[in-house]
Amino acid sequence: MVLNSEEAAQPANPVILETIRLTKQFGSVVANDGVDFTLRKAEIHCLLGENGAGKSTLAECLYGYYHPESGEIHHKGRAVSLSSPSDAINLGIGMVHQHFILIEPLSVVENIIIGTKMKSTLLNLAQAERKIQDLCDQYGVQLNLKAKIWQLSVGEQQWVEILKALYVGCEILILDEPTAVLTPQETERMFGVLRQMKSQGLSIILITHKLGEVMDISDRVTVLRKGKRINTVDTRDVTKEDLARMMVGRSVIFRVHKDALEPGEVVLEAQGLRALSDMGQEMLRGIDLAVHSREILAIAGVAGNGQRELFETLIGARKATAGRVLLRGEDITGLPPRKRLLKGLAHVPEDRIRMGLIPEFSIAENLILGNQRLAPFRKGLGIDDGQVQKFAKESVETFEIATPSIRQRTRFLSGGNQQKVILARELHQRPQAFLVHQPTRGLDVGVIEYVHQQILALRSSGAAILLMSEDLSEIFSLADRILVMYRGAIMGAFPADETRLDEIGCLMAGFEYDPGAQNHKIGLEYE
Ligand SMILES: Nc1ncnc2c1ncn2[C@@H]1O[C@H](COP(=O)(O)OP(=O)(O)O)[C@@H](O)[C@H]1O
Ligand SMILES: [Mg+2]
Repeated sequence: MVLNSEEAAQPANPVILETIRLTKQFGSVVANDGVDFTLRKAEIHCLLGENGAGKSTLAECLYGYYHPESGEIHHKGRAVSLSSPSDAINLGIGMVHQHFILIEPLSVVENIIIGTKMKSTLLNLAQAERKIQDLCDQYGVQLNLKAKIWQLSVGEQQWVEILKALYVGCEILILDEPTAVLTPQETERMFGVLRQMKSQGLSIILITHKLGEVMDISDRVTVLRKGKRINTVDTRDVTKEDLARMMVGRSVIFRVHKDALEPGEVVLEAQGLRALSDMGQEMLRGIDLAVHSREILAIAGVAGNGQRELFETLIGARKATAGRVLLRGEDITGLPPRKRLLKGLAHVPEDRIRMGLIPEFSIAENLILGNQRLAPFRKGLGIDDGQVQKFAKESVETFEIATPSIRQRTRFLSGGNQQKVILARELHQRPQAFLVHQPTRGLDVGVIEYVHQQILALRSSGAAILLMSEDLSEIFSLADRILVMYRGAIMGAFPADETRLDEIGCLMAGFEYDPGAQNHKIGLEYE
């Protein structure tokens, strides 16, 4: 039974920020559709919803960045009109955006005081630094304030954004998907600080689509779906399953069933693989891995540690500067992607538009892209249009691709629907080796489950699957083995056992796991 917290009879802190029937449109898209939202003093309030649900839009309206078409915003009981973020900041509202707005060549201190009224004389800088250091001490944040932004990890950069908001004295802090770039340990540390802020009277709006985090940290949660507020509940009154149902509008199973299978022979292999980034830096520093038949090997890591380069080198879209790629023992290092595909190496790229689809082609055309010469689509020298249409209609149905027609150009589909087109096409070929990078990012929970089932079915049929994902829950529900990648190298190999999460998290952040002792950073080249 789900109680609406507005009706729950308990003394609650006063409402500090409120929206009434807030509506914000982008052209014909109603991103926020009459949303009522309340934030109380000293609470952590999660905004939960799938991609595109309208979470960021609501936050940007509260921060004065977007201007709603209709509805009201009340701050401490008074209607306010926020014409820009500086209005919000003056009311004590701070925000950390999904994409940070920091200036790379400047130091932490300089970034924090920039835009504040203070002139950056040396004396003031020293004063500012003391004040910032006090904030760090207060919250147990360890940060070298003299470091330049480019020298910091993404997690550290996020602290700079948070300190920036605290420095100007915010009472309300909005965080838009802050944990997306963090390891499990960094997330835990951040949650500790958020709890402390709350105990000191701050109110926090935390945007996420991760249910575990909502259950862990929030007092209340507001669920958005397709721009509408579905419900606002006390977190302790609900389960993960309740929230999932509110998010997607129906119930979903969390764990897909996975058969116990004995892995077979090696299908895909990398030996001492090296490659450069687009900027010419060495991004792969000698990768060795072997994926067996009937096995899902997962690569865990924070984005930007060479996953993209590894993926592209394996499929043939990036040149290996050293090492080899083998498919069933055959050296395919020199082959272009198309030839690798014909040999049974299929892939689903992270970057859908750039690598996975031809945006100006229809859904039906994209669904047979690369396979048009293969059965059942080939008919003499041409294409069997009846078969193509049949397959397209089936795919649209089973993958729930939201489109008026199979003739729709994929350019007009949402990211999630584009991903479904790619998955439908690649899975249809029943490949021997399957490379997937972020296969379910941006998809609805129900579709994620479907995609996971499809990947597991492929495993049962004998394929070797290499999964790269930043989502550890995805990795744990699918993988048989896990490799951790950090700065272009494999840092460790693990069975898919959640009790090893701490070790995996440490390696993701570049630490050697050492229970008891102080962790020390490895592989870092700081000045
Ligand atoms: N600046 C914009 N221009 C046009 N459409 C936008 C813009 N920002 C968001 N949208 C659309 O509004 C909807 C809600 O987006 P958003 O608030 O970013 O969702 P969420 O943060 O929950 O993923 C989506 O359909 C998105 O495509
Ligand atoms: Mg968002």
